[in-house]
This record gives sequence, C-alpha cells and structure tokens, in this order.
Amino acid sequence: PDYTITVDPAATGPAIAGSMYGVFFEDINFAADGGLYAELVRNRSFEFLPADNTSYRGLTAWTPGGESGGTGSASTVNDADRLNERNRTYLKLALTSPDGGRYGVTNSGWNTGFAVRRGATYDFSLWARSDSPAGTPVTVVLRDAAGEPLAAPAELTVRGDGWTRYAVPVRASRTTDAGRLAVLAGGTGTLRLDMVSLMPRDTYKNHGLRRDLAEKIAALRPGFVRFPGGCLVNTGSHYGYDAASNFPRARSYQWKDTVGPVETRAANANFWGYHQSYGLGYYEYFQFSEDIGAMPLPVVPALVTGCGQNRATDDPALLQRHIQDTLDLIEFANGPASSQWGALRARMGHPAPFGLTHVAVGNEENLPDAYFANFLKFRDAIAARYPGITVVGNSGPDDQGATFDNLWAKNRAAGVAMVDEHYYNSPAWFLGNNRRYDGYDRAGPKVFLGEYASLDTKLFNSLSEASYMTGLERNADVVRMASYAPLLANIDNVQWRPDMIWFDNDESWGTTSYQMQKLFMNNVGDRVVPSRATGKVIEPKPITGAIGLSTWATAATYDDIAVTTPGGQVLFSDDFSGGAGQWTPVEPRGAWSVVDGGYRQSDTAALDTLVKAGNITATDYDLTLKATKQTG
Ligand code: AHR
Repeated sequence: PDYTITVDPAATGPAIAGSMYGVFFEDINFAADGGLYAELVRNRSFEFLPADNTSYRGLTAWTPGGESGGTGSASTVNDADRLNERNRTYLKLALTSPDGGRYGVTNSGWNTGFAVRRGATYDFSLWARSDSPAGTPVTVVLRDAAGEPLAAPAELTVRGDGWTRYAVPVRASRTTDAGRLAVLAGGTGTLRLDMVSLMPRDTYKNHGLRRDLAEKIAALRPGFVRFPGGCLVNTGSHYGYDAASNFPRARSYQWKDTVGPVETRAANANFWGYHQSYGLGYYEYFQFSEDIGAMPLPVVPALVTGCGQNRATDDPALLQRHIQDTLDLIEFANGPASSQWGALRARMGHPAPFGLTHVAVGNEENLPDAYFANFLKFRDAIAARYPGITVVGNSGPDDQGATFDNLWAKNRAAGVAMVDEHYYNSPAWFLGNNRRYDGYDRAGPKVFLGEYASLDTKLFNSLSEASYMTGLERNADVVRMASYAPLLANIDNVQWRPDMIWFDNDESWGTTSYQMQKLFMNNVGDRVVPSRATGKVIEPKPITGAIGLSTWATAATYDDIAVTTPGGQVLFSDDFSGGAGQWTPVEPRGAWSVVDGGYRQSDTAALDTLVKAGNITATDYDLTLKATKQTG
C-alpha cells in the first residue's frame, strides 16, 4: 500500500464537543424575507421607504388597479391613522365604484411570484379599517400571471373605522411558482390596509419557516446556530427604533425590534441594502434552534462598527442601553415566565426557557481599542448577573492584520473565554494552513471560527475546506465551534458569494460545501484518536512558470494577472482596470476579485501569499501566475 495509517485507540486526544460544527444564519442575500421566513407577500406592511433603499417605495411589489369597471386610487400614507407607532405606513385606498367593480392592489411576491401547491392551504390575513357605513367588501384572489385563478376567491367584509385583523384560508387548486395575490375592494369610501399576509399552513414544525430550507439546515444536524450576523449586527445606527425620525437610516440588528406580535415589529433598512420585516426575529431564531436541536448563539452589537466603517459610539447612555438590552435578551431566553422578558417569551408561545448558554458581543469591529473597552463592559455586566453565560469576544475583521493581533492580545490578557475568528480565503490557503491551530496557546481563550469559506463553489473548494476541518477537529481542545458562511442565498438577490444553500421561491439546493459540512456535522466523533500516516509523501511543489515576480507587480508594469492551476482553473485574476479590481502595489494593498465570486478585500491577503516572491508554494498542485505586460 502507498499509505499506512496507524491508529492508537488507547491514546487520548482532545474531546470533540457535539456543538463543534454549526451554522451561521445572517439576513444577507434575502435569507430571511423571501427565504427562510415563509411569508409569501413581499412588502406586506408597506414600509419599503426611500430610506430603506432609494430604489424602493411604499408600493414596492404592489400594483394598483381596477377590475370589472372598479375605480379608485392607492397610496401609501404615514399619518396619525397608522396601525401603530412601529408599523407607521399603511395603504390607503380611495374607492370610487358605486356601481360595481373592484379596485385594489396586486402583489407580485418573491422571485417569479407566489409559489403555491395544489391542495395546500394558505392563511390570508390583513389589518383593515373602513369609513363606509355599510362596510367594505374585499375579495382576495390568488391567480397566475395571466390572471387565471389558482384558488376560489375568498370574501370578507371590513366593518368599522378602527384597525381590526381579518383572516381567511385560501386553498390552492393548481401548482405554480409564479402566482399573484390581488386584494380588491368594492363600493366607495376610504379603506385602510396593513400587514397583508399569505402564510403557507405547512411550515417547518408549524413555526412559520419555509419547510425545504429549514429541512436542509436541519439535515446538517448543526450543533449551534449563530445569528443574526455579521455586518448586519455591528454596522449601521446603534440607535433603536425612532418614530420621529421615520427610519432615516439602517439600524444595527437590535433584538427588541424583532419580537412580539409581527404587526408591532419595526421594519428596517438593513446593512445589505434591502428591507427587513423582522417577521423572522429573535423568538423564531430561538425556536428554530430548539427545533433542530442546536445551541443558539446570538450576536449583539458592541457599538463599534466594522464592515467598511470606523465608528464607535461616544454616548455612554446608549452603550448602557445596549448592555441592558443584552441582559434583557438573556432574560427573554432563559428567564421565568414571571419575569418581564420571560413573560413576553411565554406570551409568544414558549413558556419554558430556551436554555441560552453563549452570547457573542460584536462581529468584526475595526477599532480594536474602542471595541474591546466596550466588550469588557458587556462581559462584566453579564458575568455579574448571569455568571453561567459564556461571553464570546472576537478578533476583528482580518485574520492576519494588526487589528487581529491587537485584539487577540487583548482577549488573552483579559482571560476572555472564547474568541470569534473570521476568514474567507483561497483553497490554497486552506490547504496550506491545516496546522494553524496546532500552535495556539492551550491555556488561552478557546476559538470560535464563526465565519469561513474557501472562495468559490467548485468541488476543489469544498475539498480544501474538508482538509482544513481535519485540522480544526485535531485541535478540538482549542477550536470549540466552527461555522461555514454565509448559509443562504436567494438566486435573484445576492450580496455575497460563495453561499452554502441556494434557493428561489420554490426550490433549494446545496453546494458541494453544503455536502461537505453535512458529512462532518453528521459524523462528529467523541474525541480525537491520535494517528500516524506513513508511506509515500507528497512533497509540496513550488509554483512553476512565470511566477518569479521579485517585486510587487504594479498597474504600471502589468495589466492582466491571473493565478491558474495546470488544468486551467483560474483561482484569482485581475485586469488592473481600476475601481474595485484595481491593484495598488503598496500598502494598503488594493483589492482582488475572485472569478465567480464577489469583491473581497481579504482576497488580497490570500494573494499576498501567492504573489510575493519566494512565498509561492502549492501543496498538491502546480500553480501558475500569469502576468501580462501592459502594452499602452
Ligand atoms: O458572511 C458575510 C459577511 O462576512 C459577514 O456579514 C461579515 O461578518 C463578514 O465580513
């Protein structure tokens, strides 16, 4: 045989926690609304405002119109007649059809439209008020893009000029992924509508999440769920919902915005540039974690930004408010039903505690000193009130830069229990860094690898991740948890690649990295058994070809550059054409874009290793750097 692997079952390696491998759910790539959250109506509360995104308006996804001679006008209004102070904008229909006909709005849903299945039941509901003394008849019609019915029309009558919830089930008679939902009203007068909803009755464990996506995540058997971000958490305004300001800016994810009855949850313009309804909020995250047998691991803002921004709050009262919010979050998860926040959890349907054990403070903050000063305040307050909770710190945005080193030193010195590391790198990096954690201080903080991925979606990327995960597992005494990121992506709304599970409005599929994660998560061992491999050794081979750049390539000397495998797979390329792809040879180095992937500043670090003269090695294949001289 070429190889002999000798296993010594008597020897004891580190124990591997059941929660070693988990998932990181961030509301990026429309992962929540139009994704895991099963709601079929897009913009159900008419809160898409210019502040959410300049291209969105209150009627995003809605088209007004009359039928059978019905007339009227539709507008979104934010005035004193609103549903409540958090759900400020509503739809106002001025109805002018005294002689029959209907007027109203039609929703186009997500992706190609409403995905409905023949024979399945969908729960339609809305909040409404009417100033018509006789009441306003409303017809709800589910139909295809050509106008052909997908269900028998549902009828209801809105009576009285106070907000009231109406609900009616709709049973689909045909299957489609391109349905439309029309809400049409007859007569005259003013009809006000809000929270127009169509929820499939069939959701994962009846908890409101889209079944196929939830099942794909559950099939991984994750040990934990990190949520809700990511940049979504630490970047944006750290102020809360502010009624007077009418959503002037994206707010960081703040859990109190996301709980209670859905019609009272604040909407947000999120960091990733789209509207967030918070229909999938903290209660649903905890419930989902419980439903799939995973440990919940929430991340709260530390009031210092990252993700391209460098701001820290100078408002001690605001900091204190967020610290209190974090204590309240722990009470929401674990407190008795008699406590203030435990009572809210009980009212929402879960009297028993969720059993929260870990809270992470911050994501990838750019200002290490400001972040760590805040982190310690959170940690001390949590330790004083809830000594059993593990408070997780982080190592900043970049696994190789000064912030990383600075933060690691601070975490170590302060005896932080666990530090969250993030990195997105090339397959070569993952192959070459299998031993990263062999040298980590065994007496120092444990590692939570909260985000990582090899940058692309080819099988080779997944193999490099698998190889790397053997190194994580070998060091299970230091690396206690790891999650690939991001988890979900809607094919029509992508802010980040690669992603583990892709979907449109009725289908979903996993990448090879999904399959790899599934293999590891479904086969977590109890402990590492030391082993030794002997036999033919594959020596790392140096990169061959035109690789010998002895200085940094510059835009002045080269205009095209690519790193390829012998099979022609382009791992990295850049054309020096300026903008996001521009490569500046001196510090700070410019960014590289990855073929088939998005723009990633951290690719630069991966390229550093490959490009810098003398540092270019490949572990099991030859790489070629092609740099083409500029002609002009
Ligand atoms: O996973 C995508 C993003 O990558 C996360 O929001 C952020 O934490 C990281 O930079």
